[in-house]
Amino acid sequence: MGLPLLGQTGRPLVFPGKRSMLVHNDFPEDLEAPTESLDSFLTPVERFFVRQHLPRPRVDVGQWRLSVEGMVSRPLTLTLDELLKLPQHKLPATLECAGNGRGYFRPSIPGLQWTKGAVGTAEWGGVRVAELLQRAGMDGKALYASFDGADVGAGQTPDFVRSVPMRKCLDADTMIALTMNGKPLPEIHGAPARLIVPGWDGASWVKWVTRVTVAAEADKGFYFATAYKYPKLPVAPGGAARPEDMEVIEAMPVKSMFTSPGGGTAANPARMRMGRVPLAGFAWGGENRIARVEVSTDGGARWLDATLGKEDFRFAWRQWRMEWTPPGAGYFTLCVRATDSAGRTQPIEAAWNPSGYLWNSIERIAAVVEG
Ligand code: MTE
Repeated sequence: MGLPLLGQTGRPLVFPGKRSMLVHNDFPEDLEAPTESLDSFLTPVERFFVRQHLPRPRVDVGQWRLSVEGMVSRPLTLTLDELLKLPQHKLPATLECAGNGRGYFRPSIPGLQWTKGAVGTAEWGGVRVAELLQRAGMDGKALYASFDGADVGAGQTPDFVRSVPMRKCLDADTMIALTMNGKPLPEIHGAPARLIVPGWDGASWVKWVTRVTVAAEADKGFYFATAYKYPKLPVAPGGAARPEDMEVIEAMPVKSMFTSPGGGTAANPARMRMGRVPLAGFAWGGENRIARVEVSTDGGARWLDATLGKEDFRFAWRQWRMEWTPPGAGYFTLCVRATDSAGRTQPIEAAWNPSGYLWNSIERIAAVVEG
């Protein structure tokens, strides 16, 4: 048996509850799922990507409390048991990091070089944020709730706090999740409680939540006032945007991917045999359902409708499939593009932006069919 691989801290690259992930960082953990492993509507926890800016906090569930404070008439401090006794809600929702796909932007952009696997879908269960705000007697003039997790700033990296506008906090599907795929939330995904902001970028989904602060204004810290922003107007590749032209990312754009084949570049194409080739993947549209998925096997000259999976939820990805019989042996460019219920479709090339967010170019896979 070989020695275990060692990470940046000299510790073995073993992540509790995870299997065969692509490791961008091991401390704090930034783990990506290989795309071909994302082949089921609900992503198993062992294949769910992980992103954190700060070392994972140690949370003692017995001591842990969730407080709801700020512009409220009845501040709350709740234990996990008390939260579990409140009305529970559940829904499948797709979680995607705003930086998923950053590795494809040219010129390249500093930051995690995610490819396609910083996305996954789980069934989340917990308590609606609206329920908590109502119990706390929220002031009707409040415009935001800010969510702070048990992780704390370290070195140059500030504390991770995110604000969510009240219109989204009050959405019946925005919740404090206590379960993921029917089991208590795993530690690495924010146990015992994390925020679920369906359809919005992963940065809003604060893990290990301990404090909800209701306020008239958004948090002024780095992770809401500066990071996770996107230019209002297009920027030339490699260019800059003025801070006042940057907007907070909210709902995610429409996007699709292949999971079968899992990948393929000109230098390293996917290889397949003649005969019937199963093509499959997912499409998702932020706060919109998926209306259509089209596949091309000739580099985008002709497009055919794929068959859409039966699981059709507003905030979750939709599986698509197509059986392809290649006309002969050779080199093929397989493409997929999605259209959502609002009529949005994917661009040929996602707009370059200074932080490398929201990559949603039409997917192109190189494939070689062997005779
Ligand atoms: N919550 C806390 N407390 N700290 C973090 O660094 N990272 C956010 C979000 N919640 C983060 C956090 C980001 S950027 C993403 S993409 C998601 O968590 C990733 O969630 P996951 O690790 O459960 O996949």
